[in-house]
Amino acid sequence: MNFSCSVCNNIYDSPKVPIWLCGCGKPLVVNYNWENKVKSIDIIEDELSLWRYKSVLPEVETKISLGEGHTPLIPISKNVYVKDETVNPTGSFKDRGMALAVTMAKAQGVKTICLPSAGNAGISAAAYCEAAEIECNVFLPETIPEAFKKETEKYSANLTLSGNTISDAAKYMLNNKEDEWFDISTLKEPFRVEGKKTLGYEIAEQLGWKFPDVVVYETGGGTGLIGMWKAFQEMQGMGWVKGTLPRMVAAQSDGCAPVVKAFQEMKKDTEFWENSHTIALGLNVPGPLGGKWILDVLSQSNGIAISIPEEDLLASTKDMNDITGINSSAEAGVVWSAYNTLLKMDWISNQESVVLFATGIERC
Ligand SMILES: Cc1ncc(COP(=O)(O)O)c(C=O)c1O
Ligand SMILES: [Zn+2]
Repeated sequence: MNFSCSVCNNIYDSPKVPIWLCGCGKPLVVNYNWENKVKSIDIIEDELSLWRYKSVLPEVETKISLGEGHTPLIPISKNVYVKDETVNPTGSFKDRGMALAVTMAKAQGVKTICLPSAGNAGISAAAYCEAAEIECNVFLPETIPEAFKKETEKYSANLTLSGNTISDAAKYMLNNKEDEWFDISTLKEPFRVEGKKTLGYEIAEQLGWKFPDVVVYETGGGTGLIGMWKAFQEMQGMGWVKGTLPRMVAAQSDGCAPVVKAFQEMKKDTEFWENSHTIALGLNVPGPLGGKWILDVLSQSNGIAISIPEEDLLASTKDMNDITGINSSAEAGVVWSAYNTLLKMDWISNQESVVLFATGIERC
């Protein structure tokens, strides 16, 4: 295993432990040496968590697992599916990333971690840290609903509130953190992406080792989109799946759409979105660290970024929940509305196979 920078391409064979950002300040990517190792499909059939895909994850002696992953792919028509991530141990897809990040942090001797969160990542980090006996410091915006605070504290994390968005909470954390705390913010360490990439492996397996034509993903910090794209490329490289890679769609609310703005203006990186607001709390990420990486995935996959009107969100979330029977939070409404808009634009045809996501449970 080695690490390369997602922006300047610097390679790190044996980086400082615990492994963090590139010297240039941008996220690192995990690369594996799979020659002679993984060629044919190699999964653990009776493992019903994301460790089913152990052969494509970092090797570790002790896994911190709460049974994350292996979630249903619900067909809502002949060729359209919703991946139900609300059934993960703490109610969101964040558990995939945290399972790997906390497993690796533990293996690297970390005693205390910290992170800012829009809500779900903090709950998930708290749960995995409790299981790993790592101290966990979660920084949330002051606007966070009570239910998120209660749930985070249930797993005995230390909670600090600051500002209106995850970016404000992150600023406060950086000014107040202790030196030895390990910062596992989105994309600051490379293993959350490795956990999230299992979404891509699972979808391909559930479709009979095929790629869908299109993936529509509610994009905040972008780890899910980036992780799935990495998985699709890995599977293609190993010959696990043949055929064209999916077109990736980043869906955002027009109350916070830095990726959509940069995509439309053909910029290489996102710019900070001032005065952001959306009821899809996980998408209130005005300045994603991986903005360039997200835009690269959209361009490599012939994908698109699309925003939907914030005022449509309540109704589209209800529609999505009525159709699927899932009690999903508003991020899923963003995806549902984006999908319907893309159908109307003929960017997606009725014949194409499409995967949508219910990334988290409605907590309020
Ligand atoms: C429910 C939900 N959906 C989507 C997202 C965005 O995830 P990502 O950072 O992978 O773009 C979040 C992040 O907080 C979330 O909580
Ligand atoms: Zn770099």
